[in-house]
Amino acid sequence: MFTKPRILTGDTPTGKLHLGHYVGSVENRLALQDDYECFFLIANKHAFTTRADKPADIRQSVIDIATDWLAVGIDPAKSAMFIQSEVPAIDELANFLGMLVQYARLMRNPTLKSEMIDKGLAENYSFGFLWYPIGQIADILAFRPAMVPVGEDQLPHLELTREVARKFDQLYCNVDPQTPDKEYVKAGGLFPVIEAKLGRVRRLVGTGAPSANTGRLLKMSKSLNNAIFLSDDADAVRSKVMGMYTDPKRIRMTDPGETDAEKNPLWAFHETFNADSAWVDEHRDLYKNGKVGDVVVKRKLIDVLNALLEPIRARRKQFEQRPDDVIDILRAGTIRANAVAEETLALAKKAMRQDYFIRKLTID
Ligand code: TRP
Repeated sequence: MFTKPRILTGDTPTGKLHLGHYVGSVENRLALQDDYECFFLIANKHAFTTRADKPADIRQSVIDIATDWLAVGIDPAKSAMFIQSEVPAIDELANFLGMLVQYARLMRNPTLKSEMIDKGLAENYSFGFLWYPIGQIADILAFRPAMVPVGEDQLPHLELTREVARKFDQLYCNVDPQTPDKEYVKAGGLFPVIEAKLGRVRRLVGTGAPSANTGRLLKMSKSLNNAIFLSDDADAVRSKVMGMYTDPKRIRMTDPGETDAEKNPLWAFHETFNADSAWVDEHRDLYKNGKVGDVVVKRKLIDVLNALLEPIRARRKQFEQRPDDVIDILRAGTIRANAVAEETLALAKKAMRQDYFIRKLTID
């Protein structure tokens, strides 16, 4: 029987999904769900690394993320949507895999470093915060996926995942260290040396003014208050776009090919979301020459964004009225996820000679 290759990826429930998530990774998931067996994880334990004092918010956000996924068109008949903390094999695997990561190597992880700064943690991060990249390695490897669709900021975690997969396979499955990455499983390894799949837009800018320090535009992020959410209604989209930072002096670059951080955000958004490239090219020239103003270009953007978001909003409304269905979908997805993760854990224990008993897990 032909089995589809697997995909695993996830989101941390710290709020609703926005347009940055959409072009960074969600869009890819939609495109891939027919050709791959997809597992989408809601990383609720990750959320506790920085929000342990807000359990009710995290619970709400778990439901919000699942509702957003369903709203964008993730089809639960094809893809398994599941809750990280209800798949215990992930944690058990993490415990073993953590032994294969040097502490000094972990602390060089640039994503971890920048989060310590961005989230204002300074020296006050918890021990659990340092553990989360190990948890993420286990999130991924428990599914032995061929591919992991993520945003650019996640690449350091994926590189660590690749290192751990190679090390495990060499240590416990006798894979020759000279083996090319793509051949690890064929050579007898349990874990594939996974591949990242980046989104069409690596770093969508937010709607706000550039950083006062660097002059560069900031990435779209809920915590920076510069996000347009997939769940925003038409009025919210209108007022966010109308209030969007542009360059009053028209010095900021408008040409495609410039990095988005240095661009006029209005054009970054048109290039990303407006499929009518003839309109975009024509109006970019008019804009540069002062022949068309912000308002015209903003109005067009509002139409473009609302056209994208309208069907998402309609589906979201349906699921918002059926929260029990959302829970049922998560239960079914979590059962499927446990079947795969338990199998991986059993194989990993066998490879490590720690397969003493057989156990069965049930979820009601
Ligand atoms: N760290 C990811 C984020 O915050 C979420 C995540 C957790 C994840 N586990 C994962 C992403 C495994 C990909 C694969 O966005």
